[in-house]
Formats: sequence, C-alpha cells, structure tokens
Amino acid sequence: MRWWDIDPVLELERDLFPEDAWSRGMFWSELAHARGPGATRRYMVAQDGAGRIVGYAGLASAGGIGDVQTIAVARDHWGTGLGARLLTELLRAATAFECAEVMLECRVDNVRAQRLYERFGFEPIGFRRGYYQPGNVDAVVMRLLTASDSGSAAGAPSEQGTDIHG
Ligand SMILES: CC(C)(COP(=O)(O)OP(=O)(O)OC[C@H]1O[C@@H](n2cnc3c(N)ncnc32)[C@H](O)[C@@H]1OP(=O)(O)O)[C@@H](O)C(=O)NCCC(=O)NCCS
Repeated sequence: MRWWDIDPVLELERDLFPEDAWSRGMFWSELAHARGPGATRRYMVAQDGAGRIVGYAGLASAGGIGDVQTIAVARDHWGTGLGARLLTELLRAATAFECAEVMLECRVDNVRAQRLYERFGFEPIGFRRGYYQPGNVDAVVMRLLTASDSGSAAGAPSEQGTDIHG
C-alpha cells in the first residue's frame, strides 16, 4: 500500500467498518512505519484486473510479536479466497519480521473473520471488554504460534486476475 492508495482504501474502509473506520491520518501514520530498513509495518493492497483496489491488509511487528492491524476485502469479492490470500501474505510478512507469534483482535460478532483466522490455526486466548467504541462491542483476542507452523499449510486458492502487492 502506498500513499496514493489511501483514498480508495478509505472508501472500502468506511463501507466495511462503518462504526469504527480508520481515519486518513491513521493510514498515513501506519505507512510512515512501513518503509526503510527500520520498518515495523507491512501493508498491502489487492487489485483486480482493472486496477481497482478490492482488498487490503496490514501487520505490525514489535518485540517478536506480529499484530494483524487490519484485513478487509470488498463485499463483491467475499468468498473468493482473497481474505485467505491476504492473510497468507501477512503471515509471510510476520515470518520476514521473525515473529514467533501473531496476535489479532476481532469483534466477537464477526464470525466470518473468526472462521478465516481459525482455518489458519489462530486460537482464541481471551477477550477485551468494550474494545470497539462507541458500540461497546467486545473483542476476542486470537493468537497463532508461528514457530509451530500450524497455520501456514492452510493455503490460499488464488483468484485469477487479482494481484496483491505492497
Ligand atoms: C473477513 C473477510 C476479510 C474475509 O474475506 P473473504 O475474501 O471473504 O475470505 P475468504 O474468501 O478467504 O474466506 C471466506 C469464505 O469463503 C470460502 N472460500 C474461500 N475460497 C473460496 C473459493 N475459491 N470459492 C468458494 N468459496 C471460497 C472460505 O471457505 C470461507 O468460508 P468459511 O468462512 O465458511 O470457512 C471479509 O469478509 C471482510 O473484509 N469483512 C469485513 C472486514 C472485516 O471484518 N475484517 C476483519 C476484521 S477482524
């Protein structure tokens, strides 16, 4: 993801996370940490054959722990395996950052996303009460121990014509 991707990403963000969409400034701030030798973030976008951004994802790394910052797919691409491909790329980034584990938070009512994470070997390890505001929705905290390599074999079927890149 580069700065010129932020506008189309924001459009998807507001559609997919209507209650707690990230601001433009949050994406700028994340991307500021995604370049150069000391980079701690990896952000990517997926573009269809026509160049439209149809998905994006980001990972932060600190102290050997990766954190899935965001992952999202345009509604008309749901169920095509794109979410799995983005998650595969995030886990590849976690390996490159030498993360021994990857954490994430997910709304407790987001069953679709939790199923995706479970397929990759993420396990629920706790809850954060009222994590999502203003709706006061709890988050489930999930963790994948990458050292055990439990999830990477889940694989991601490729969707023809969709390209994922930084
Ligand atoms: C969660 C999200 C990223 C999943 O993306 P996705 O592209 O639909 O994910 P996938 O296609 O890889 O997997 C979804 C389902 O499609 C199925 N699927 C995957 N590839 C498929 C294919 N080629 N053909 C048919 N079905 C397929 C998967 O088996 C999966 O089914 P399951 O949930 O019953 O196991 C997407 O729904 C989204 O952006 N939601 C809104 C934002 C969000 O909630 N983000 C997560 C925040 S924690």
